[in-house]
Amino acid sequence: MAKYDNNFTDQLRERLSIVDVVSRRVPLVKKGQNYWGCCPFHNEKTPSFSVSEEKGFYHCFGCGKHGDIISFTMESEHVDFKTAITELADMAGLKLPEYKPKSAEQIEAEETYITITAAAAKLYSEKLFTPDGAHALEYIRGRGFSDEMIKKYGIGYAPKNNLISNKFVNTKQDKLIATGLVRRGEYGLYDFFRDKLMFPIFNARGQIVAFSGRSLDGSEPKYINTTDTEMFHKRQTLFGFNFARENIHRANRAIIVEGQIDAIQMQCNGFGETVAPLGTALTEDHIAILCKANRNIIFCFDGDGAGQKAAARACGIILPFLRDNSDVRFAFVTGGKDPDEILRKGGKKDMEKIINSSIPLVDFLWQITNKNYLINTPSGKVQAEKFLKSQIDKITDKLLRAEYEREYNNRKFNEWHKWKKQKETVHIEVPEIDNIIRNTLIYIVNKYPEIAERYGDFISKFNLDLDANIKPEFEFDLKSAEKYIISLKIQKYIESLEKQKRDLTMRGLSGENNVNDEIRRIDDEINRMREKFELLV
Ligand code: UTP
Ligand code: MN
Repeated sequence: MAKYDNNFTDQLRERLSIVDVVSRRVPLVKKGQNYWGCCPFHNEKTPSFSVSEEKGFYHCFGCGKHGDIISFTMESEHVDFKTAITELADMAGLKLPEYKPKSAEQIEAEETYITITAAAAKLYSEKLFTPDGAHALEYIRGRGFSDEMIKKYGIGYAPKNNLISNKFVNTKQDKLIATGLVRRGEYGLYDFFRDKLMFPIFNARGQIVAFSGRSLDGSEPKYINTTDTEMFHKRQTLFGFNFARENIHRANRAIIVEGQIDAIQMQCNGFGETVAPLGTALTEDHIAILCKANRNIIFCFDGDGAGQKAAARACGIILPFLRDNSDVRFAFVTGGKDPDEILRKGGKKDMEKIINSSIPLVDFLWQITNKNYLINTPSGKVQAEKFLKSQIDKITDKLLRAEYEREYNNRKFNEWHKWKKQKETVHIEVPEIDNIIRNTLIYIVNKYPEIAERYGDFISKFNLDLDANIKPEFEFDLKSAEKYIISLKIQKYIESLEKQKRDLTMRGLSGENNVNDEIRRIDDEINRMREKFELLV
């Protein structure tokens, strides 16, 4: 059996919904917390195969089979581990990493790397408390950092001269260069960070893998980070995650802020569950890391244009990761401030207010849609609808996607078509159906969620009590269930056309002109629908 990086299989489990994977082979219906279907591993007629989206496992109460997306794919398709992984990677849109066992050299190289970065961090910390680093120390204290914080976050000072290249004379040059701390110049090695306030960047295991240096003399750029190395990938690193992990678990949520000083101040002022990306826009990898820790996330960005843009981007990235147990929210720090300044001036209380006034993703997405498009013009409305659809389509959890669709359809109707609503409330009524039809619909919707999803707009008109315990008059397979819905839809449409025709005829009788053309059009439509109906039944 080929071995893959645990990270990769975790990534697959994270990216893919077990419900999606299983329901490609086994129709599932949600009942209570779990999804149920007929077990593919033994012969059965009544469903005893349960799937837990939350836990990422399936379990058959009939035959005892139990496992996750990987074992399900292997066993249901009779394929080996590698094939299953390949297929799942494909489904998740992930590139399969080539499996290379770590060689002894690589292990040694990593150890050397960590030894160098740890030693460098120690040198930087010491420098902070020497006369060379006095201005840096004064600066960081001025920003509200206690000595305890300085120690915990390993903050230091990289002097103007070549500290690292001079101190590590006995280390092989290549190994030194591999850490990104020094570069090779015309006259030998020179330090990358000079006259900078230094923030070590830890990996999830708490090892220092890189640094972020802040300029102290106002020169730009304000921050420079170690450029990517073998052991540091900016796009996959969240600043503060090593410290936040436990707290994320405890607080049952994560907070994402924009800056690293913001993250530190948040962590030290009652929001230990805070992390920040490192001078890069948020990436899918960042979100994947967080979702693995917890699916409740609050984005806390600056209220300015850039922050709004970053939030909109984050929203687009997180949609595929949404599950029915995710609570994703957006909070904005207004007034040109950032969380660091809020905490300095107003303390935890003011920050709490901002966090508590965060809005859920469903509202934020609606907000940006309304803000970015001119929804009171036909073309703006179409653009807005296209945008919304493109976003909703990113949600991989089918039922959740259907729920978002319904929610936005309601909002579109209530908020974009107010005029239409007012005019039509007089005419629109719940279509009449008898109890047999009603019960049949409830039965179909519960048995075939995919139909409920596809014809949701139509079905929702009937105000069905979906929790009613119904014994169906007839049994349907999926295909005939769909046929039933379509024919009902046509039937109801014909009824409404006939009503329109009656109204028009009345108007014609009471002397109104020009109704005949319209009546003829309706007649044509009725005939067309009848033909369609007959083809179906
Ligand atoms: P900001 O410009 O909001 O800075 O950049 P900040 O965090 O408030 O910094 P302070 O408070 O002035 O020290 C947000 C984040 O973007 C990255 C850094 O990680 C910073 O924390 N950044 C910013 C860079 O990587 N390079 C830059 O030149 C500026
Ligand atoms: Mn700041």
